[in-house]
Amino acid sequence: MAVTIKSAREIDLMREAGRLLEKVHNELGQAIQPGMSTLEIDRLGEKLIRGYGCIPNFLNYNGYPASICVSVNDEVVHGIPRADRILQEGDIVSLDAGLIYKGYHSDAARTYGVGKISPEAQKLIDETRNSFFEGIKMAKDGNHLYDISNAIDAYISKFGYGIVRDLVGHGIGTQLHEDPQIPNFAQRRRGLKLRAGMTLAVEPMINMGRCDVAWMDDDWTVVSDDGSLSAHYENTILITDGEPEILTLS
Ligand code: MF3
Ligand code: CO
Repeated sequence: MAVTIKSAREIDLMREAGRLLEKVHNELGQAIQPGMSTLEIDRLGEKLIRGYGCIPNFLNYNGYPASICVSVNDEVVHGIPRADRILQEGDIVSLDAGLIYKGYHSDAARTYGVGKISPEAQKLIDETRNSFFEGIKMAKDGNHLYDISNAIDAYISKFGYGIVRDLVGHGIGTQLHEDPQIPNFAQRRRGLKLRAGMTLAVEPMINMGRCDVAWMDDDWTVVSDDGSLSAHYENTILITDGEPEILTLS
């Protein structure tokens, strides 16, 4: 599939999809506390998404059974919410959420500490977020796609963290996953030329230890192979002639 350039009308719909998803994330972030089950997070997220008149785009996506991906500690992404998975003080939890507004998708992820967490865990969360902002400094019309990948890698590698290579960011629009794929690690080529009107989900997934990941028997949950903590930070962005517009963060 070719990379799509969104029209002014489509961009307005993407903006609204992003604005509503930011509200969902903010409300979920405030709800996180020790003792909460990961299923409760999913139930609240689905209620919020539907309450805004939107559709949870993850639900039933390739058979994924929930609306919010909830990934705890060494879980990288795509954790399946469960009633018996209870958040404990000191855990870190990644929430990945998305919705469809009038046919247009948004996608964003945040990692939170549950109660008081270790300084090392907080640093992983903070630097994962920072790496997203380093990456999108390069996200403008005329630059190349892998300028983003290279900038994320150059920033995060300083800390000795492992950049997950088996999962990548992506274009987004009338579908959750559109071309192009956006790796978070350095590339030898330049990649396609970025153009104003492209909408992209940039999403570094960073392990405190090695970059290798494994899939659990539920066929969804991705974990760090060495058991180290993992953080995820994602926003849907719009390429412009200048600074990118972050659609899922105001
Ligand atoms: N944000 C996730 C991604 O871009 C979407 C999760 S897909 C699901 O891959 F099926 F797990 F919902
Ligand atoms: Co995504």
